[in-house]
Amino acid sequence: MKRWHILTGVSAIAVAVVGLSVADVFPSEIPPISQADFDSDLVEQGENLALLGDCSSCHTPTGAQGLSGGFALPTPFGTVYSTNITPDPETGIGTWSFAAFDRAMREGIDRAGNHLYPAFPYDHFASMTDEDMRALYAFLMSEPPVSALRKENELPFPLSLRPILAGWKLLFHHPKPFEPDPEMDEEENRGKYIAETIGHCGACHTPRNIFGAVKRSQAFEGGEAEGWLVPPLAAASIAPAAWTLDDYADYLFDGWSAHHAIAAGPMTSVVDHLFDSDEDDVFAIAAWLAAITPEADEAERDEIIAKISTRDLPETFDFSLAGLDAPAEAQAGALVFRDNCLKCHKERISDSQPISLGFTYAANAAAPTNLFAAVSHGIEPPLGVPSRKMQAVNISAAEMASVAAFVRWRFTDQPAWDNLLEDAEAALKAKADH
Ligand code: HEC
Ligand code: HEC
Ligand code: HEC
Repeated sequence: MKRWHILTGVSAIAVAVVGLSVADVFPSEIPPISQADFDSDLVEQGENLALLGDCSSCHTPTGAQGLSGGFALPTPFGTVYSTNITPDPETGIGTWSFAAFDRAMREGIDRAGNHLYPAFPYDHFASMTDEDMRALYAFLMSEPPVSALRKENELPFPLSLRPILAGWKLLFHHPKPFEPDPEMDEEENRGKYIAETIGHCGACHTPRNIFGAVKRSQAFEGGEAEGWLVPPLAAASIAPAAWTLDDYADYLFDGWSAHHAIAAGPMTSVVDHLFDSDEDDVFAIAAWLAAITPEADEAERDEIIAKISTRDLPETFDFSLAGLDAPAEAQAGALVFRDNCLKCHKERISDSQPISLGFTYAANAAAPTNLFAAVSHGIEPPLGVPSRKMQAVNISAAEMASVAAFVRWRFTDQPAWDNLLEDAEAALKAKADH
């Protein structure tokens, strides 16, 4: 992001802050709770909500105990660290009353009265029902306390000043209770509720403006998360083969759909948590997605699937691309593919092989970001399909660039990617810095 963008943004927010009352900018403290004693059904309901809400992907970094925080969340503005949400009284939320928790989840204000950064997706959690909020609280308060101090955020001045967030909220945070869609049945509306509130699908799948706020008018049209491109969903999907109800259910349960993709990158933990959560809720999300996806013409869909499948490479394929009208970079990439990818990505004779690359978002997306991430980091398979592992492939930036050009040219109908070498170098550098 350009510096002047940040500066105009900050001045706009500062102007907004001036118009607020002292209580808006410096909210008051809520006193601590004295005891926690919860009904076991409520705790169980809360545990399911914590899975649907993916709390642990941000509050349980690798090696941490429980939801004790400390995960570094990269944002375009700097790094924000998640906090300790175990009921430890000193370092966690052990002294938080329900009112304090509820305010944090809906308004993004901690118990002491500090504004919280929207890297914590309270902009989605805010529309949850009161009952769900109580269940989530009951679950968190019943977990074992873990002592872990918070880490200081790494944000540039003046973004490091929390009161500035009062202006951000005035401009962008206007939570309303969830409203069911009268056109949808009960299951579809349950899915819509999960997706739009606790599941916060739009936190990644909806684009954000220069202030980091989700653009509600472009819901589910695709975004970015943790260095990955996030695909547009439903009506905005760019998947060559139209998504059906069964495809959505496969993908959400197992993290893999035969005519689309494997869930990689930040989507892996989402599906892994769905795998462990209430089955009816996962079906409900699939039903909602199917309800907002235009119905596909079956014959057309079958034709596309057949066409993409025939582009897979048989052992006898001529990798010199002789006689084919291929750009030079794709020609170099064909050989890289033969030497590094073909042993797994070849003509499909069994279901256990990887799906045809032409179906994947990684190959069809506007930029090679996810393809480079798959090649340089490998793919750790989701719980539902444990054997679908791809090891990281150790190749140079030039090889990565040319193999991407080949994949794009051979397997998709999309125009060639620009700046491949630059992007490949950046991807390898990001990996080295990690
Ligand atoms: C995308 C990452 C992410 C997810 C998912 C997430 N959180 Fe957080 N959460 C954060 C970050 C980052 C902060 C700290 C924000 C700050 O410092 O301003 C935070 C802060 C909080 C706080 C305030 C705690 C304090 O000490 O101030 C609560 C409460 C909380 N989260 C609860 C939850 C619950 C419950 C869930 C699951 C339903 C959840 N979070 C899911 C990133 C996340
Ligand atoms: C933390 C960010 C994040 C969250 C939260 C998230 N997703 Fe995703 N999602 C991704 C990424 C990244 C991909 C692409 C993965 C890849 O390229 O392998 C993806 C892929 C998908 C796909 C495949 C689309 C396609 O055309 O390939 C579906 C369907 C999907 N997500 C649904 C959901 C639903 C439903 C939710 C909420 C329950 C959700 N996602 C929440 C990041 C996220
Ligand atoms: C050891 C076997 C293996 C090798 C070698 C391999 N892959 Fe993969 N690849 C997989 C598996 C398994 C998947 C998961 C998809 C599936 O099973 O359907 C995958 C998935 C992918 C995806 C889709 C990622 C997504 O998010 O949907 C891309 C793109 C990809 N591979 C590219 C490559 C390229 C390019 C090479 C060579 C540089 C390569 N792979 C080498 C096994 C492999």
